[in-house]
Amino acid sequence: MRTRSRFTFWSVGALFVLAMALPDAGQAAPPGARVTFAEDVFPILQNRCVECHKQGAPGVAFSGLNLESYEGLMKGTRFGPVVVPGNAMVSNLNVLVEGRAGIRMPHNRKRLTACEIDILRNWVNQGAKND
Ligand code: HEC
Repeated sequence: MRTRSRFTFWSVGALFVLAMALPDAGQAAPPGARVTFAEDVFPILQNRCVECHKQGAPGVAFSGLNLESYEGLMKGTRFGPVVVPGNAMVSNLNVLVEGRAGIRMPHNRKRLTACEIDILRNWVNQGAKND
C-alpha cells in the first residue's frame, strides 16, 4: 500500500510538470510542422514539377510559371501569383496540387502524396519564406 501511494504521488507530480510545460510548447509552434523552402519544398518541386516548369518546357510555355527557383515560384504565372503568403486556402499552388480545381498538378502525372501536400500547405501558411 505504502509503495503504491508513493508511486501515485510521483505520477501526479510528473503530470503536473508536463501540464505546465505543454501549453507553452503549443503556443510557440506555428500551424503545422515547421518546414523550410530549401529542405522541404524545393526537393518536391524539383522531383515533381520542374520537368515541365523549366525554361523551354510546356508548363512555362503555357502558363509562364517557372519552378526552377524561389523567385520563379513567387513570380507566379503570367496572370499573377500562385502563392499568397500565409493563406494556402486561396493559393493556386495548393488549390492545384490538392485537386480543388478543374485541373490538377502535376499535370497528367501521379498526384503528390498526402505528406508532400501537407508540406506545401504548411510552408505557405507559415509565410512562404525563402528559408
Ligand atoms: C507533365 C507536365 C507538368 C508537370 C509535371 C507539372 N505541371 Fe504545372 N502546368 C503544366 C501545364 C501544361 C500548365 C498550363 C496548364 C494550362 O494553362 O491549362 C501548368 C500550369 C500550372 C500552374 C498554373 C495554373 C494556372 O493558374 O493557370 C500551376 C500553379 C502549376 N502548373 C503548378 C505545378 C506544380 C506545383 C507542379 C508539381 C507538383 C506541376 N505544376 C507539375 C504542366 C505540368
